[in-house]
Amino acid sequence: MDAASARWWGRGVTTTDPLDALALPGGLTARHPTEADHARVQAVLAAWWGHMGGEHGDLQRALLLPRLFFQHMTDTSTLVEDADGRLVAFLVGFLSPAHPDVAYIHFVGVDPAAQGGGLGRRLYEAFLAAAAARGAREVRCITGPDNRGSVAFHTRMGFALEPGDREEDGVPVHSDYDGPGLDRVSFVRPLP
Ligand SMILES: CC(C)(COP(=O)(O)OP(=O)(O)OC[C@H]1O[C@@H](n2cnc3c(N)ncnc32)[C@H](O)[C@@H]1OP(=O)(O)O)[C@@H](O)C(=O)NCCC(=O)NCCS
Repeated sequence: MDAASARWWGRGVTTTDPLDALALPGGLTARHPTEADHARVQAVLAAWWGHMGGEHGDLQRALLLPRLFFQHMTDTSTLVEDADGRLVAFLVGFLSPAHPDVAYIHFVGVDPAAQGGGLGRRLYEAFLAAAAARGAREVRCITGPDNRGSVAFHTRMGFALEPGDREEDGVPVHSDYDGPGLDRVSFVRPLP
């Protein structure tokens, strides 16, 4: 466990709500997303991911975040806004219905203007603390093999890369993980 994460668990914090474990810089506020936020998040996906993978990539990401996440996965998800109500970051995560000891982070995004400022780490730590308090013993997530920023971020956040069926520049890749041509990198991290 890294030092920042130990902050929460070391203090015996047992909140099941990620909002209670989230400390934000001044001017930013956090809340759970609502269905009305679906369109707002969809509107920033392409730009925040830097149009990675071109139009095909933009479409894939849009389809990976349908409205249902803003209807049914809200209590473990977080949305961050600035003082003017502008969207600055979001995390969509949940506990596995089939495996309650497994937490899953489905999507995380930070406005490019705020990237590298610790928001992604704060969102992850708050989610991990709440997931652990809900009984999860490990957290999982995936990313596309081209998203080297995401691979670097998850590595820094203490995730291990699960062995794949091939490697790209030293990164293990699971071919056709989500369907033909939809390769993924798979991450896992234990929770205390
Ligand atoms: C990936 C992302 C969520 C990270 O959020 P962030 O707020 O920029 O990251 P943080 O500033 O909290 O960084 C946390 C740690 O990861 C490292 N890190 C983050 N992005 C990195 C990158 N592109 N390359 C190398 N290291 C990186 C930071 O150096 C930091 O390390 P430290 O805390 O040990 O000093 C954000 O960059 C983003 O939204 N990217 C575009 C969307 C995306 O790819 N989402 C993830 C895939 S679903």
